[in-house]
Amino acid sequence: MRILNTIDETKQAIRKLKEQGKIIGFVPTMGYLHEGHIHLIEACKKENDITVVSIFVNPAQFAPTEDFNRYPRDVDRDVKMLEKAGADLLFCPEIKEVYPEGYATYIEVEKMGKVLCGKNRPTHFRGVLTVVLKLFNITSPHHAYFGQKDAQQAIIIKKMSVDLNLDVCVRTIPTVRDADGLALSSRNSYLSTGERSLALYLPGALDKARLQINSGLRNAEAVKQLIRNELNRHSSIRIDYVDAVDLERLEDVETVELNDTLIAAAIWVGKTRLIDNFILGEI
Ligand code: PAJ
Repeated sequence: MRILNTIDETKQAIRKLKEQGKIIGFVPTMGYLHEGHIHLIEACKKENDITVVSIFVNPAQFAPTEDFNRYPRDVDRDVKMLEKAGADLLFCPEIKEVYPEGYATYIEVEKMGKVLCGKNRPTHFRGVLTVVLKLFNITSPHHAYFGQKDAQQAIIIKKMSVDLNLDVCVRTIPTVRDADGLALSSRNSYLSTGERSLALYLPGALDKARLQINSGLRNAEAVKQLIRNELNRHSSIRIDYVDAVDLERLEDVETVELNDTLIAAAIWVGKTRLIDNFILGEI
């Protein structure tokens, strides 16, 4: 696997590959890789000649009070995992390479970036979209791969790609979970053993809601209340949000539609924020 740190080298390497007619797939990450990331790479390898991965902990998507400094990092371990998974090129820039002094341009999506995770993280998606558009411009992929675990992120990136006429086709891959049901996340490394058992209430609550929907429950408020009740069973869990929205605009729905609803929740367990969701329909 080739490892490149500069934008110029990466652009040049990919330009050459494209001149040879290669189809380029891209998997952006913030590193500290786990099986969820590896599934994205596997999906990418199936559909493309060249799999490009980026590792960049993007400061623009963290608020000053958030965990940018303590976000887990281990590039040596990541490189080994990427080589084993068969990635071809790793783009791994320094912060000043992506945001040089005087950097001033940001991308924002209206409304959709201010709901769900955007309610309490109002600048988060501005940071995500800005870096993802920059990474798309640097790697100019035919296809790019995102996880359903961050469903709002995937939906907003698809929206940006359509609205800004990008030439990239955005794909979404199902959430990968540990055996106990917890969605894999680099942030799970923050959890103590006790916190981890609390974290399991999140997939547990969503599963119960899904079962009720399968048995005919359609009232969105009742679905959300069921999830809240499950989460409130433990006083150490703090709910950030529980929402039911449509897949197109991410607007609150009153009725759960079986082909067009995202049920998503975020909780705090100690100092760790965890998200999870299920989708009725396709994104
Ligand atoms: P990161 O959290 O490292 O995630 C990189 C990609 O892996 C995202 O598309 C995310 O949805 C996906 N992913 C994470 N956990 C997953 C799981 N359990 N199952 C399936 N896919 C999973 O998301 C980001 O980084 C950043 O916001 C980024 C897009 C790289 C922009 O900085």
